[in-house]
Amino acid sequence: MRAVTAFEVRLARPEDARGLAELFAAVAEERDGIATEPPVDVAARTKQFAASIDGTILAVAAGDLVGSLHVDESRFGVGDLGMAVARPWRGRGVGSALLTAAIERARSEGLHKLSLEVFPHNEAAIALYRKFGFIEEGRRVKHYRRASGELWDSIVMGLLL
Ligand SMILES: CC(C)(COP(=O)(O)OP(=O)(O)OC[C@H]1O[C@@H](n2cnc3c(N)ncnc32)[C@H](O)[C@@H]1OP(=O)(O)O)[C@@H](O)C(=O)NCCC(=O)NCCS
Repeated sequence: MRAVTAFEVRLARPEDARGLAELFAAVAEERDGIATEPPVDVAARTKQFAASIDGTILAVAAGDLVGSLHVDESRFGVGDLGMAVARPWRGRGVGSALLTAAIERARSEGLHKLSLEVFPHNEAAIALYRKFGFIEEGRRVKHYRRASGELWDSIVMGLLL
């Protein structure tokens, strides 16, 4: 059997919400890249993701959801961005494809800027964002209390469109 290497990027639909919640829960289990930690209430997240599905772009491979990116449009023309790629699919261009699509969409919708926060140790994410022109705008010091009790900084990054 050959390994699946091809994926497609498309807009999310309401029926994708459950898969999105499961991907989110799996990435939260890593306790590393995203702010949310386990336990994730998958049913509650499914409802929440279904309600905001319009801002979500997916990567799908052989019918499986392998990556997602969400942009929350603020009233001020800025889109707040969050994303995750399933672990086995990292380093294979999924994040870059999602970000390419998100930037194009944000421009077409007239946003003037994309904004995000990333943990300072998240080298893969920071490299990805820099590759697309995001710059570091500041640092939120000891902003995120982790389940371990540690207080993590985050780096604020922005891309003017
Ligand atoms: C961050 C994340 C979305 C990147 O997605 P990805 O599909 O692995 O990204 P890509 O394969 O498109 O790689 C993009 C760039 O990131 C960099 N990169 C990827 N993996 C890297 C690693 N392990 N270390 C350093 N840089 C890395 C490279 O510069 C790469 O560009 P290149 O292929 O042109 O050299 C993914 O690692 C992820 O989901 N992590 C867990 C959740 C998370 O941290 N989300 C972001 C929260 S801010």
